Amino acid sequence: MKMRTYKNILVTGGCGFIGANFIRYLFGKAEFTGRVVNLDKLTYAGNAESLADIATKAGERYVFIQGDICDKELVGDLMTRFAIDGIIHFAAESHVDRSILGPGEFIQTNIMGTFALLEAARKIHSEGRPIHFHHISTDEVFGSLGEEGFFFETTPYSPRSPYSASKASSDHLVMAYHHTYGLSVTLSNCSNNYGPYQFPEKLIPLMILNMLEGKALPIYGDGLYIRDWLYVTDHCEGIWAIAGNGKNGATYNIGGENEQTNLAVLDALIEEVAKCTGRSPQTLHALKKTVPDRPGHDRRYAINCDKIRNELGWKPRTGFADGISKTVNWYLQTSTWVQHVRSGEYRHWLEKNYGDRQAIAAGKAGAQ
Ligand code: NAD
Ligand code: TYD
Repeated sequence: MKMRTYKNILVTGGCGFIGANFIRYLFGKAEFTGRVVNLDKLTYAGNAESLADIATKAGERYVFIQGDICDKELVGDLMTRFAIDGIIHFAAESHVDRSILGPGEFIQTNIMGTFALLEAARKIHSEGRPIHFHHISTDEVFGSLGEEGFFFETTPYSPRSPYSASKASSDHLVMAYHHTYGLSVTLSNCSNNYGPYQFPEKLIPLMILNMLEGKALPIYGDGLYIRDWLYVTDHCEGIWAIAGNGKNGATYNIGGENEQTNLAVLDALIEEVAKCTGRSPQTLHALKKTVPDRPGHDRRYAINCDKIRNELGWKPRTGFADGISKTVNWYLQTSTWVQHVRSGEYRHWLEKNYGDRQAIAAGKAGAQ
């Protein structure tokens, strides 16, 4: 039995990687019979095409609104017009490297945008109407670990990049609205996601596509940085469990229990791409290229997710080999999506900034 059920959910950032997977997950669940209003600005990272089939199949149960979460008037209007009773908040600027080059958008969307949504929720709450706010955050707010230890829900925040600092700030706002105004909220801090529909600037899709195109595989520093990799649909399942039954005002860690160095991730990808395409692993390994490191690069993230396991019965289901195989195969079979997301602004940004790792390493950010 769910503690909370929803008729009309506002999903923000539903055209991005995790948001699109979440909406797909939700429409695959028989227990969900309500409507999703997807508010997405369609930045370089958002692609409405990721939900084209859902838009057709779900009919009036799926509404797409292109707009900015910072637009208070629009957000307030959507809350009333669609009788929103739940907000699942994904929309964000999400790439650490971009936050180093230009932090301005991160402050605007991640902090001011979350503030605008919280204000809209507070209004509904003050009118005595039901509203629950679930905020998606990251394990990066906890800082960087040494060789030992894990992040717990009680670990003090210590963000170290403009991205993680902006997410930490939004997390604090969400909890402040709970404590000050009694807003019903939950929050999840998850580790690195991977799977279909991820924009190819993040490690895994970037490496897959570069291999297919015979381009260099850029390894930051010594490649021994460690991340915990979580398959995206496992994450979606965790979010839905929390939105339904998470304790009001609680935070939950969601992780894959799957720590890997970046070099180990790359080797797993090389093996899978070689298997699926018939290319020789040696040729793919030869594409590896050490590039200047990211400034302030966090060494290790690792998540303890006993709380969600014990309270809500959630656990990561997808093994790493299985997840990598599904991901590689998806990118191999979805070339039109890839072509579309890599056109326009993405290409422009790559040409302008991304090729020049020296600029990032030297912290030569495009001021905003
Ligand atoms: P993404 O970059 O793939 O997608 C972000 C989406 O938000 C895009 O569709 C974009 O158009 C939209 N958006 C950006 N600014 C907006 C604005 N001002 N108004 C409306 N829409 C806007 O991000 P993602 O990887 O799907 O991440 C989703 C959430 O999960 C983020 O809050 C991120 O911080 C968090 N998170 C992601 C990961 C990960 O590994 N990807 C890990 C931990 C936490
Ligand atoms: P990324 O996917 O950007 O996620 P995050 O920085 O949020 O963890 O990067 C994952 C790891 O991979 C991180 O340690 C940086 C590293 N990395 C590379 O070595 N090369 C690359 O081209 C990219 C994009 C990332």
